[in-house]
Amino acid sequence: MTDRKDDKLWGGRFDRGPDKVFDEFQRSFSFDHRLLPFELAVNRAWTKALQGVGILTGEEVEQIHAALDRIDDRIAATPAWIAESDAEDLHHFTEKALVEELGPLAWKVHTGRSRNELVAADFRLFVMEAAASMQRRAAALVNALASQAEHYLGVPLAGMTHMQHAQPILLSHFLLAHAEAFSRDLARLAHAAESADACPMGSGALAGCSFPVDRQALARDLGFSRITANSLDAVSDRDFALDYLFALAGIATHLSRLAEDSVLFASQEFAYAILPDEYATGSSLMPQKKNPDSWELIRGKTGRITAALLSLLTTLKGLPSSYQRDLQEDKEPLFAAHDQVAAMLEIAAGAVSKTQYDTDRLRRVAADPALLTTELADALVRRGLPFRRAHDLAGLIFREAERQKRPWTELPLEDIRKIAPEVDAAALAECTLAASLARRNLPGGTGEEAVRAAIDLLKTRLSKRGATA
Ligand code: ARG
Repeated sequence: MTDRKDDKLWGGRFDRGPDKVFDEFQRSFSFDHRLLPFELAVNRAWTKALQGVGILTGEEVEQIHAALDRIDDRIAATPAWIAESDAEDLHHFTEKALVEELGPLAWKVHTGRSRNELVAADFRLFVMEAAASMQRRAAALVNALASQAEHYLGVPLAGMTHMQHAQPILLSHFLLAHAEAFSRDLARLAHAAESADACPMGSGALAGCSFPVDRQALARDLGFSRITANSLDAVSDRDFALDYLFALAGIATHLSRLAEDSVLFASQEFAYAILPDEYATGSSLMPQKKNPDSWELIRGKTGRITAALLSLLTTLKGLPSSYQRDLQEDKEPLFAAHDQVAAMLEIAAGAVSKTQYDTDRLRRVAADPALLTTELADALVRRGLPFRRAHDLAGLIFREAERQKRPWTELPLEDIRKIAPEVDAAALAECTLAASLARRNLPGGTGEEAVRAAIDLLKTRLSKRGATA
């Protein structure tokens, strides 16, 4: 046979072509062309595997590899080739391009394999690369937060719970709290890459390849460290994509918290942070406005990242075993989520690095004596009182101060002693901002020494990962 009736990958048993609208509907090339570099790599490895089982000669493999190189170059040189192609999907595109280059020899390339395993292999390679690049971006944000923590070391911040003044902390401690969250995201990304790292080639459409190809060699060739264990599972498993989307949703959720804090801190009410011009926009009406749109958009885009995870989970729910065409719906949400989170991380890292803090304002607000009321209870505990009793007395003292309309630290000592005779001048001296911070140098605490150690630890962890930006 030297000719075929059309260039389709599956036309033989059909009398009529597909309905026009349906045909448009089922095509995936408009988005899966993004996997072309991986598809070409899989073709290189697969043809070597076919040589191993005697389907192709060494000379044929050389010809095919040279053709794949030319296709690679042409893709890079002529973007319109992809835009204008009428290929159904990236596998069809590649086969057509090979036929154009090689004629009937190209028809041998698909021996023993299926698009089901091809698309799984391509998508796994994409996720491995994507997760690695996302780790670099997340690490850059962790670095930006750590650098700011280092720069502002010693500056206090009125720590809050329930958005109410709680206890003093260091601004650096706050920044490192965000850095910790993104460090966990690094681990999740690593897990997603690991879960993608298994080569499905040799699984066939579902039953495994009928030619005894060397699956280990195929995996090695493609940069996978292992092979998938079950051909039926391999053509339908998208857990690696779920893992990646979960990692992205985690990053987006953490970014939305950083965004919310940043929007609040830049507000006139807080006035802690000065928004960098580079990451703000103005108002078309109010000349004085500088709006934190970068953070608002980051916070806002979190919705679609979460939705991408839900979208794939919903697609996968209730699918029978084996490959189903539903699985084609896995790529668009993942590509979109990947692109958005990449941009979100880059912008967040830039905005964090360029944010300036108003340290006078931070110090003034952190000087609120209400933040030191727990210190008073603790001072009473150090004088032998049970904590619950000390808490009650400190509360009564705070209430008396409220009644007298002054900070509790400015109550006359005799008024304090009427409520709690155990309080003396030494106890009051224990209730300062500096003393409060200095008592919290235990690991993980907000004392300056502890925070300095935390910065060092974070940097060591980052460089061990080899993920420093
Ligand atoms: N375009 C399909 C997908 O993304 C890949 C191949 C389809 N396989 C098939 N037997 N129709 O999942």
